[in-house]
Amino acid sequence: MSFQKEIEKRRTFGIISHPDAGKTTLTEKLLLFGGAIQTAGAVKSNKIKKTATSDFMEIEKQRGISVATSVMAFNYRNTQINILDTPGHKDFAEDTFRTLTAVDSVILVIDCASGVESQTEKLMEVCRMRKTPVIVFINKMDREGRDAFDLLDELEDKLSIKVRPLSWPIGIGETFKGVYNMHRGNLNLFEGSKTNIAKENIEIDNLQSTVLDQYIGADFANELREEVELVNGVYDELAVSQYLSGEVAPVFFGSALNNFGVQELLNTFIEIAPKPRGRESDSGLISPSDDKFSGFVFKIHANLDPKHRDRIAFLRIVSGKFERNKFYQHSRVEKKLKFANPTSFMAQDKSVIDEAYPGDVIGLYDTGNFKIGDTLTEGPSFLFKGIPSFSPEIFKELQNNDPMKSKQLEKGIQQLTDEGVAQLFIKQPGNRKIVGTVGELQFEVIQYRLKHEYSAECTFVPKNYFKACWMTTTSEEQLAEFLKRKASYIVSDKDGNPVFLAESPWLLSSAEQDFPEITFHKTSEFKLEKSYL
Ligand code: G4P
Repeated sequence: MSFQKEIEKRRTFGIISHPDAGKTTLTEKLLLFGGAIQTAGAVKSNKIKKTATSDFMEIEKQRGISVATSVMAFNYRNTQINILDTPGHKDFAEDTFRTLTAVDSVILVIDCASGVESQTEKLMEVCRMRKTPVIVFINKMDREGRDAFDLLDELEDKLSIKVRPLSWPIGIGETFKGVYNMHRGNLNLFEGSKTNIAKENIEIDNLQSTVLDQYIGADFANELREEVELVNGVYDELAVSQYLSGEVAPVFFGSALNNFGVQELLNTFIEIAPKPRGRESDSGLISPSDDKFSGFVFKIHANLDPKHRDRIAFLRIVSGKFERNKFYQHSRVEKKLKFANPTSFMAQDKSVIDEAYPGDVIGLYDTGNFKIGDTLTEGPSFLFKGIPSFSPEIFKELQNNDPMKSKQLEKGIQQLTDEGVAQLFIKQPGNRKIVGTVGELQFEVIQYRLKHEYSAECTFVPKNYFKACWMTTTSEEQLAEFLKRKASYIVSDKDGNPVFLAESPWLLSSAEQDFPEITFHKTSEFKLEKSYL
């Protein structure tokens, strides 16, 4: 197959949701359609149950499972679909944000009873920032839930995106009859079945036809006619170009558990979802069809065996063809590396591959060469932009419990933060280490892993910071003045950039007022934001 055809047949996306909305169930059903798994129940949920926050074995198990389910590839109708898994647990949100840099589009799962929840809003902010195309799947229609119009209004309000339903539910919960596929003009009647793959659709050329009444009864038929008329009046026809630019999200209704509405979603997905896209670099936009290989690392996973500190770096291929045992340039450290055992992930099987193409995600065994965000290239060296750091929400100072082990501690915390477990900020004087995370769980993970993998013990002392802000300025003088005046709140990030640790929203807004020439950013992605706008 030609290089161009290989690129065009790939679709790389992530499924995001608030925990429990049905992401794991939907993933599994998609794999069933692709024939990648044979039975339901084969994909393990990678969520940590709430009760397990201090159960370290559970954390270890979670890490194991999430390696296995990090990427799931399968073929469906001549399309190679790569699903990148995102952790459901909110303490791992940063991991999800980074994974979103490696996808070309997203399916957002919403529970029809809960609607848009807080974590979904955050994830969508990241999608909006990168103009990632989104398809919404409103799940659990077999249960009592909210009115479909209300849900659509809420999506538009809370997620700041226009929506366009492509299917419409008939009844809900007890009275759920099925969905009318507006896109194709057919009816799909619901019949609860957790293992079957959906049934035939019933063609309804004309909604006014009495055939509709025969299938769903006169009351539901009339309601459907009215609602579809309303939908067509209120929402514009879907313009695929607006979906691709992240302005409009097509919406489907269904029930992942009952395998209902999933195939419609998948069929539309392969029809409209974007092919592998290029990425911005410091040498301009790198297009997938460039013949020289390039890619970036968006996730690093420590292996489960603590005695061997090897890790798997997950690399998204942006351009060219990746080949096994060929030397590539590691741009940050200006070093040539080759990989003897690059792996691909087909559903749950890992296998060594000889080549891979744009859109693919491969696993590279690493002994400590990579940091999140690193670039590999075949041709001239350049760096991809924008594996962002987001402001952590919890800050603690790391203190060494055993001065004899400070080297181990130093190395351990460096490696763990390279892996993206948490962010490390250095505060002067005294090289003090402030660790920032989005959840408490990370501190437990760090303590545990420092102890078991590096034989170092530490204590965390809570710090009362509210946000970490990266800064840009139109006046170097004003920035210098700010850094001097707020010296005790200035730390440096992993790349040596100064970061302001604000103690409260009030202190942040007063800094903004006093120093109008400085812009305070809550993500380190400000460089990318500018180049994208
Ligand atoms: P997540 O990955 O987004 O966290 O959600 P997951 O798929 O694990 O689903 C969360 C719960 O919702 C599961 O039940 C799952 O069976 C259920 N669920 C998913 N889709 C549907 C649906 O369409 N209808 C209904 N009624 N339920 C659905 P659980 O009891 O938490 O787990 P389990 O014991 O069933 O695995």
